[in-house]
Order: sequence, then C-alpha cells, then structure tokens
Amino acid sequence: MLVTQQPVLNRFWYPVMPIAKLIDKMPDAFELLGQKIVLWLDTEGQPVAVRDRCCHRTAKLSKGTVINGCIQCAYHGWLYNGQGVCVKVPQSSPDQKIPSSYKVDSFKCAERYGYVWVCLDNEPLLPIPSVPEAEDPANRIIPQCYDLWQCSGLRVMENSFDNAHFSFVHAASFGSIEQPKPAPSEITSLDFGLVIKSEVPVINPPAQQKNLGMTEAYTTRFVESTWHMPFSRTLKITYPNGLMHSIFTAATPVSDRTSQIVQFCVRNDTEADASAEDIIAFDRQVVLEDRVVLETTNYDTPLDVTVEQHMPSDQPGIVMRRKLLSLFKQHGEKEQLLPFQ
Ligand code: FES
Ligand SMILES: [Fe+2]
Repeated sequence: MLVTQQPVLNRFWYPVMPIAKLIDKMPDAFELLGQKIVLWLDTEGQPVAVRDRCCHRTAKLSKGTVINGCIQCAYHGWLYNGQGVCVKVPQSSPDQKIPSSYKVDSFKCAERYGYVWVCLDNEPLLPIPSVPEAEDPANRIIPQCYDLWQCSGLRVMENSFDNAHFSFVHAASFGSIEQPKPAPSEITSLDFGLVIKSEVPVINPPAQQKNLGMTEAYTTRFVESTWHMPFSRTLKITYPNGLMHSIFTAATPVSDRTSQIVQFCVRNDTEADASAEDIIAFDRQVVLEDRVVLETTNYDTPLDVTVEQHMPSDQPGIVMRRKLLSLFKQHGEKEQLLPFQ
C-alpha cells in the first residue's frame, strides 16, 4: 500500500506536532501524505495549516514570518490568513482590491491532547480519535516520542497488537525469551478499527519497578488496546496494583516510506509516585527496540494477505489489512503498490 496514492487516507485526522513546538517557534513545516504544509498559531492561539507554497511565485511560506496571526511570504511579502486568503499585497495601494484568486489551500486543523492535528480533506470520515483517559483532569499526560521513522504506519500499528514479538524484540526490556508463546487475545471488530483484550505476563525489570511501584520481578499487564483506523492506537495497560498506563501512539503518514511517530502516555499516578523522566526513559527504550526492527521491513506493506505468511497471533494485523482494503473499495479505490516488489 502506497499511502500517498490512496486519496481516502486524506479523510482522517493525524497528529502532526506537539503544540509546544509551534509555541516555541513558528511558522513550522510538516509533510502529511506527501502534502507540504505550513503551520502557525492565529491571534487566538489556535493552530492553522495551509499549503506550503505561495500562489505568487511558489516560495515556501514556512520560510516566512508570522505577523498578527497571518503569515508573510519571505519573497515579496504577500500576507495570508489562516484560511489561506491573501489579505495584503505590499506592492499594491490599500484601495486596490486583492483578486480572489490570490489564495492557497487551507486545511482543517485543531489542537487536542497537546498536539496539533490536521485533516487534509474538508470532510473527515471520523472525528479526532478519542482518548478518554486523556480527557480526565485527574490523570497526567506525558509526551514521550516525536520521531521520524523510515517505516509504514501499518507496520507500526500491527506491531502494537502483536503479542508474539515481545520475547525477541523486547528481550532487553520486558519480554521473556523463555516464554515465546504469545498471550491469547480477544478481538472485537469496530466499524473503523478494532479492540483487543489480553492478559500479558511480562518481566518487571528494576528500571520499570520504580515506575510501576511494584518490586516483583514479574507482573501481568491487563491490556485493552484500540486501533483507530488508519494509523493510531491506544494501548491501555492496567497493572495488578491499579496503576493505569495508557499509551497513545500515532504513525502519522509523511510519505510512502516515512512515518512521524507521535506518542504520549496517560497515567493515574503523580510525579511523586514516578518521575516523568524515568517513565519516558523506559517507554522510549521499548519504542526504540521496535524501531530497529520495523525500519528493516518493507514500507510498501501489502494488504493482500496471501503475499506474506502468517501465524494465529497475527490476526489483528490481518483484520487491519481487510478493513483498509474494504475502506478503499467503499471509496472506489484499489490498493496502490510499487510496480516491482
Ligand atoms: S513568492 Fe510569495 S510573495 Fe512572491
Ligand atoms: Fe513492540
């Protein structure tokens, strides 16, 4: 599947960057599904996104300057608002009307959970994925990853639901090589995703013991994991002591071969119980273990389930492939692939 060649994928919301990054420095550029966009904050502090190409002589607006909630092109100073409409041409006199064709495409943009989300289509198929734990003010949100991976989003998603890789990929963190048999999981299909429930026995290494407030060498993760089509998931883990550690991860599609990994976790404990720094350190170790392997996989991930071989624990990844194929079919699309595999 070549994500930039499946137009229906433009109809989903994707997290593109932490809002703190934009507050720190704007404008900023991002590439979403091959579309180059520029982002900044308007006068109300709301993020806005337009195509990163001036309609005058195609200069990148992301090289410009934000002035009073608008962006000024660095080349001749044309000024655009957050809707992409040119509101000032410095070379014209104030009484001259600006032609309505002086505009660039703008995109739907919103802030949620501390991140800027963009949908390239005016009619999203779904709202921004719901992370109920992140809406509860009693919980804390900890940003964990903002990394560019050379990997397809589908590979990242199926990896998240794959109980068979822990013993190998995560042998240095929580996986047990003595227990290669994956924990069984119960799958429920959703209209635009799936949920799995599983009880996963894991190693509880010293670095994690203080994060979890548990000194046992082994523990059990009670997992409820939701795939939000196409490239987001929430991994809600509850431990025997009642600690909730819910990890939201998106593999935002940048191009056919590249994904922006956006991850935060939500916990029902406090900084005094476990420091954000230690929690980030452990989860980043796990994520980097996945990265090493996933970046070696074929980014043109085939949806045809006869192309790769499977085992029973691959069922979530198979459901994902079928659901994506069915989505494409509903929207009159065929899976687009590289000409030669
Ligand atoms: S190229 Fe942007 S104002 Fe001329
Ligand atoms: Fe993993």
